[in-house]
Amino acid sequence: MSLTRIHNFSISLDGFATGEPQSLEAPFGHAGQRLHRWMMATRSWDAEAGSTGVDNAYAERHGPGIGAEIMGSHKFGPPGWHDDPDWKGWWGPNPPFHTPTFVLTHHARPSIEMEGGTTFHFIEATPAEALETAREAAGGQDVRIGGGPSMVRDFLAAGLVDHMHLVQVPIVLGRGVRLWDGLEGVEAAFDVEAVSSPSGVTHFTFTRKAS
Ligand SMILES: NC(=O)c1ccc[n+]([C@@H]2O[C@H](COP(=O)([O-])OP(=O)(O)OC[C@H]3O[C@@H](n4cnc5c(N)ncnc54)[C@H](OP(=O)(O)O)[C@@H]3O)[C@@H](O)[C@H]2O)c1
Repeated sequence: MSLTRIHNFSISLDGFATGEPQSLEAPFGHAGQRLHRWMMATRSWDAEAGSTGVDNAYAERHGPGIGAEIMGSHKFGPPGWHDDPDWKGWWGPNPPFHTPTFVLTHHARPSIEMEGGTTFHFIEATPAEALETAREAAGGQDVRIGGGPSMVRDFLAAGLVDHMHLVQVPIVLGRGVRLWDGLEGVEAAFDVEAVSSPSGVTHFTFTRKAS
């Protein structure tokens, strides 16, 4: 069965998954790269000098078995990207998705085929509809919910997430976009495990309970 998965989703101690304000120069606002330093230090990110321990064991699960991604409009680009017909995401000609990638947006535009197997499709749809579309494109493989926090929150609220790997980073951001707002008690639907890494981050896995 095709699962809906989230990987490497990083939040601060106070629950923020991005800082503010977002701009072309600062995709994560005042958070900078602090939410993802743990990941950039792993072998899955830095093939030559990266670490091979606990953090890498989690980080490298991002790709295998994934046949499509769904992401939010603010992950795809900074404010105003809708008005730039040449904007193709932050990631250059060969984005790290390598699958059909569905961008949720109220400003639809023609699909963009990139190098390496990534094609961006722009859709306005409910989370359930978007998941159905992504599942068809995933050819029996799993669908990754790529973030940011607003759309992850919507998918959690709709009960559509089967597996979530969440990384709590020991920083306090104080402002930004929070993951948990409106999700009181969401953990009850999941078996939750936590593993502390020597790097200082804590990895949580939320696995949907069998119904
Ligand atoms: N911490 C992490 O691990 C992580 C992971 C991924 C991303 N991020 C960061 O998170 C930030 C973005 O997160 P965010 O919460 O601000 O925004 P987001 O979830 O990326 O995007 C939200 C936007 O997507 C569009 N959208 C959402 N649902 C839709 C639907 N059902 N139909 C049509 N459009 C829909 C709307 O934009 P429009 O109305 O403009 O179309 C909405 O304002 C970025 O800074 C990114 O770098 C962090």
